[in-house]
Amino acid sequence: MKKPTFKSTKLFLKVLLKSFKLFFIAGKAQLILLLFFTIIQGLVPIMIAQSTRTILDSLNILKDSSLTFAVVILVITWGFWNLINFIINPLSLHIQGNLTDKLILSCNLKALETMRRINDLSTMEESRFFDEQQLLEQELAWRPVNLIVFTFSFIRGFITVLSMMVSLIPFHPLIPVLLLLSLMPQAVQLYRLQQEAFENMVERNPLSRKMQYWSHLLLERTTFREAKIFGYESYAISKYQNLFSQIYEKSSADRKKKTVSTLMFFIIGAAGSTACFLWVISQFRTNNLSIGSIGLFSTYIIISSQSFITLIQDGALLYDTCLFMDKYFSFIDRKPALKNGTIKLKSISSIEFRNVTFYYPGTDHPALKNLSFKMEGKKQYAIVGENGSGKTTILNLICRFYDPQEGQVLINGYPLSSLEINSYRTHISMLFQDYARYELTAKENISISDTSKEPVVQKINDSLKNSGLYNKFSTFADGIDQQLGKKFENGTELSGGEWQKVALARSLYRDCSLFILDEPSSSMDAISQAVFWKNISEYTKNKLSVMVTHKVSSLKNTDCIFVLKNGSVAEQGKHSQLTEQNGLYSGLLTAESMESVTSDHADF
Ligand SMILES: Nc1ncnc2c1ncn2[C@@H]1O[C@H](COP(=O)(O)OP(=O)(O)OP(=O)(O)O)[C@@H](O)[C@H]1O
Ligand SMILES: [Mg+2]
Repeated sequence: MKKPTFKSTKLFLKVLLKSFKLFFIAGKAQLILLLFFTIIQGLVPIMIAQSTRTILDSLNILKDSSLTFAVVILVITWGFWNLINFIINPLSLHIQGNLTDKLILSCNLKALETMRRINDLSTMEESRFFDEQQLLEQELAWRPVNLIVFTFSFIRGFITVLSMMVSLIPFHPLIPVLLLLSLMPQAVQLYRLQQEAFENMVERNPLSRKMQYWSHLLLERTTFREAKIFGYESYAISKYQNLFSQIYEKSSADRKKKTVSTLMFFIIGAAGSTACFLWVISQFRTNNLSIGSIGLFSTYIIISSQSFITLIQDGALLYDTCLFMDKYFSFIDRKPALKNGTIKLKSISSIEFRNVTFYYPGTDHPALKNLSFKMEGKKQYAIVGENGSGKTTILNLICRFYDPQEGQVLINGYPLSSLEINSYRTHISMLFQDYARYELTAKENISISDTSKEPVVQKINDSLKNSGLYNKFSTFADGIDQQLGKKFENGTELSGGEWQKVALARSLYRDCSLFILDEPSSSMDAISQAVFWKNISEYTKNKLSVMVTHKVSSLKNTDCIFVLKNGSVAEQGKHSQLTEQNGLYSGLLTAESMESVTSDHADF
């Protein structure tokens, strides 16, 4: 088991201070008010105890049973402190609630801002990133609540304990010391266990991510369908149960350890306070202590031990929250993986790969090998090749989702790494091979590609016409305000090909000087494909365009085609030139025509 070291205490204080800054940003006035209330709440027990003592002592010296005016005033003071306690409690809970909401919002916004800063795809593919993301997704909704609750309850407890300890000094200066010593082992042990439990939770995170994955398979629409047909529900459930048992075993052991040691140390604490009480009772005659003082002493002892135990427990939970906040801070302090450049272009007019070699992170086989080519002017380029030959990878590098290990990518003659990334990407529009399906309205699905201005209905309609969706969308009662997908109310589902057309409309909606299309017609029917390829010169007019496709027969008018093999250019030229060579391109073309012949005779 790890001991709480100086380093971990330092970290605790550092994180606490950083968290305090977050409170401050969330609401200055509310924070100050809450602190004020907390201090009063912390002082209430000692004030009530002091009032009780004065009342008891006054009663002791009263000659008859009549209440004097002074005693009535004392009782009213006692009642006042009680009332203050009752009034402040709901008020401080109210402020805590508001502050918590604001804190949750600001913590989540900071996490989203981090996602905005992340500028590459490698980060998103690290399993460490998924673990962190999972931890944040699960915990960010409630950890800030704990942060506020335990911070203020810790401050309140601290004030109560301190005031009680100070009040015990007049009895004997060693009494608070003895009390603290008897309760201290419990504090140390609790902090240790809390740290260990947190580390175990982080360690278990990959397991719990896998466990959730198995449950998602039955909860997600696409996998649900396969689960029904392939009948793997029981298999998925048993996997889920198995992983749960592994996680549960460990966390249940953590809980058991905590309970056993808490009970053990409680006994030491109780023995310490009883010893103190015994000593005071023994002093009753010798030191002529009043009955009020004896009563007060027992109250002090009980309140201070209880407050100290609560303080330790709150402190341990606050420590646990700080361990989470430390993970949170390291997530939001993440630096972008790609070094940003400074050059801003007005448009993109050329792309050059010079001896580019690229390995995906964590792989030892190059996806691109010593690759060189140039694309320039407002021309149409195509990249073709077998599955896995590196076509999408080239597009990933053009978008600067990754940097190559060797060679250079040049844009308008500048190294891509010298360009300001966000500004560079504003010149690109892209239809991805695995395009997104947004569960939003049709209008948002299209205009989301340019949120720099209000959606332009005319432009949306033009994009819909160009992608062949206009007639379909005109049948919707809500027109382009129709909700797409089934996740939200009144949503309608589209077919696979229709979703691809929505993605095409989205990429057409965006103004750009570089238009990239990765397998743009892969889900379309034959007629839609024919229309798409007929319109392609319209889509790519006045811009540099790069298309990746398996439909080589449609590339008759393309300005230049690059044929890729194992991450290198094997052939290049126009369709007519390439078909004359008896090479890879002709092979792909023949295979395509064979495919149409075989599908024409599919019954045989
Ligand atoms: N994110 C990734 N991490 C690791 N390897 C990857 C990743 N993406 C692709 N690869 C590998 O890189 C190689 C090239 O992939 P790429 O996606 O560029 O192929 P492609 O030519 O677009 O194929 P397809 O025609 O199937 O779309 C493949 O061997 C693939 O397994
Ligand atoms: Mg691909």
